[in-house]
Amino acid sequence: MEKKDTNTDLLSRLLSKRWSPRQFDDQQISKKTISQIFDAGKTSMSCFNEQPWRVILASKDDPHYNKLFECLTPGNQQWVQTAPLLGVVLVKKHFTKKDKENRHRFYDAGAFMAFSTLKAVSLGLFVHQMAGFSVEKVHQNFPIPDEFEAITCFVIGHAANLNSLSKEQREQEQKRTPRKPVNHFLFGANWDESYLDASHISSD
Ligand SMILES: Cc1cc2nc3c(=O)[nH]c(=O)nc-3n(C[C@H](O)[C@H](O)[C@H](O)COP(=O)(O)O)c2cc1C
Repeated sequence: MEKKDTNTDLLSRLLSKRWSPRQFDDQQISKKTISQIFDAGKTSMSCFNEQPWRVILASKDDPHYNKLFECLTPGNQQWVQTAPLLGVVLVKKHFTKKDKENRHRFYDAGAFMAFSTLKAVSLGLFVHQMAGFSVEKVHQNFPIPDEFEAITCFVIGHAANLNSLSKEQREQEQKRTPRKPVNHFLFGANWDESYLDASHISSD
């Protein structure tokens, strides 16, 4: 399902198409597509080019799918079961080239997922990320080295056709989450004072 498209440039079109569905169809995602999505993700920037992200993936047919699925909160399990591909993003805690904690690992992994997500959208797919899962269970169920920690789960899939959904599901899928205006977070010298509204900034 697409939102009304009023944007003309490619990036704006991708951004406006992206959202986080809760109903997917059962169309499988090929290894080629998976590789295209994360090839885009890996082009993202990271502190010292550490690329601290790792991903564990499980398609619904994989024997280890349930090991990941059972880590999700019941609320997430309810809708996740409609998606063909489930994953968890992990990050490396310390820099490889120096013995120092990488404070930017979450930030870098977020950028990686943002790039991957936009590539998925360009291929007609959607990504829905989740904080609602047990980190401990992920670490119990998979052989993850101590140096890595699980941070976010996600699913990838094709959004379900609205006609295939119940009225309640359709209404939920058609809701769009509001965004704060740029003025809410873009400041200059004074906190809470919009940078864009400051008198010394030219308006063009
Ligand atoms: C790190 C992260 C954690 C999230 N956790 C959950 C979650 O546990 N369950 C859920 O349904 N959605 C989750 N979301 C989805 C957000 O609620 C959603 O991205 C936000 O409301 C904006 O909506 P949109 O993505 O449709 O634009 C998460 C998103 C992110 C980025």
